[in-house]
Amino acid sequence: MDSLDLVSPYLFKHKRRNFLVKEKMRPTDLDALRHFEIRPTDIFLVTYPKSGTVWMQQILVQIMDAAHPDWAEDATNRTRVPWLEERSVDNPTRERADPQIYGSHLPPDMLPQGVKDKQIKVVYVWRNPKDILVSLYHFSNSWMLLETPKSFEDFFQQFLDGNVYMGSWFDHIQDYHKVRDQLNIHFVQYEDMLKDLRGEVVKLCAFLGRHLTDEAIDHVVDTSTFKNMKTNPKANYKDLVETNRYKTETMRKGIAGDWKNVFTVAQNEHFDSVFREKMSNMPLNCIWEIKE
Ligand code: A3P
Repeated sequence: MDSLDLVSPYLFKHKRRNFLVKEKMRPTDLDALRHFEIRPTDIFLVTYPKSGTVWMQQILVQIMDAAHPDWAEDATNRTRVPWLEERSVDNPTRERADPQIYGSHLPPDMLPQGVKDKQIKVVYVWRNPKDILVSLYHFSNSWMLLETPKSFEDFFQQFLDGNVYMGSWFDHIQDYHKVRDQLNIHFVQYEDMLKDLRGEVVKLCAFLGRHLTDEAIDHVVDTSTFKNMKTNPKANYKDLVETNRYKTETMRKGIAGDWKNVFTVAQNEHFDSVFREKMSNMPLNCIWEIKE
């Protein structure tokens, strides 16, 4: 049994990032994922939490659908896109047909070595961190494995300090930015998907080498709207609400700029100054809101 470097009763630190005490993965298990078998056809969906993972799962599942006659009609996206951090080396899910899509929140130095060595395709979805903060705050009140925040003020500071699930957002995006030339990686901005979902799906298809007809692309877009995902139990993780693992739905608002309803003026100024300081070495055009 590993001894854990506890950040709180709910989180332990490993290699600068924070993992869940209540999940079965321990530091040695996480380290073992470096040797997880990667096939050239594998696709990785990587995100910092609350950046649009579930949304991109739905998009990738639809784009890859034709390549997966093995997918059961009623299978959820969660089973179609298994989570790497829930795997272990001796549970490699290799009975599935190629190509396999995996989801992960891991930073680049903790991904399986084969992701880089085999230059497999990585889709990295990112989102403006003010909305991530608000979304993660609500999620922390919802998911049984996370500590319920004492207050929004408390959580606000924890986020800026990186004392939240998966650690610092600033580290996560910078770490991926630094290795972008070493990986076969496609960056997608959540807010760009809000502005032009079809355009982003077309770019994704080109990256993935999938040739979809216009009708098929329309279908991907239509099934991936917030409204349609919210009522699709295969896409919206409702089963986790029904089995009491989430207290509330993960499909919450799905907009850009919700932070404006929550941050005080002082919090916003504080956030901006931390952002300027931490991101001074990295050019990043966040889209902080989209006006209706
Ligand atoms: P909000 O909490 O701001 O509503 P993740 O899947 O990485 O956990 O991210 C969850 C966030 O993505 C939630 O944000 C959720 O509403 C949003 N989301 C999920 N599907 C979406 C869609 N089709 N369109 C827009 N946002 C979506």
